Amino acid sequence: MKFFIDTASLSEIRMAQNLGVLDGVTTNPSLMAKEGVTGTENVHGHYKAICAIVDGDVSAEVISTDYETMVKEGLQLAALDSKIVVKVPMTEDGIKAIKYFSTQQIKTNCTLIFSAGQALLAAKAGATYVSPFVGRLDDISVDGLALIREIRTIYDNYTFGTQILAASVRHSAHILGCAKIGADVMTGPLQAIFSLLKHPLTDSGLAQFLADHKRVATQNFN
Ligand code: E4P
Repeated sequence: MKFFIDTASLSEIRMAQNLGVLDGVTTNPSLMAKEGVTGTENVHGHYKAICAIVDGDVSAEVISTDYETMVKEGLQLAALDSKIVVKVPMTEDGIKAIKYFSTQQIKTNCTLIFSAGQALLAAKAGATYVSPFVGRLDDISVDGLALIREIRTIYDNYTFGTQILAASVRHSAHILGCAKIGADVMTGPLQAIFSLLKHPLTDSGLAQFLADHKRVATQNFN
């Protein structure tokens, strides 16, 4: 399973990249706003800065909602760097735009997926990725991982090249759930990725190893 980080923060992206496990980045307009990035020129510059840090795909979301403007905006985003994936919302115009981009060999990420039917439609349109939002479904007491499982079954029944990019991942249990189901990619915040490092028995075990080593090393020295 590929690991993407879901942030527009350059320092967080660098930290994940330095860990050596990062396969890509997803952003959205809210995450860009959180970093205070506004205005087309600054937004484009920020995407270029992200692409300079990571080796893999970087999702950049269109903010227009009609087909013509989505296509225009998406073409500009795709021209910034070969790593850019044009992120398009799951709407009627969005599906038409994804179909257009797929005919131009431009990578797309169909975002705001909350049902298997939406994921099926996006795959039919030729989306490179679909982003089902696990955490936001859990927030309304609907099993988010069950949606990932349902989409996995549907895609495995056919030959769709579309990858399942499990989004709105919030914690390590979500990451493990996605991995068990066989999501192609998960995208989550930095702390969710780093939480995989942690186990109390690792900390106490290491402390014990180091203490034993120090005790014997001190004895030998005396
Ligand atoms: C998907 O690409 C979105 O950027 C993201 O995963 C949404 O996550 P959230 O529900 O934690 O805001």
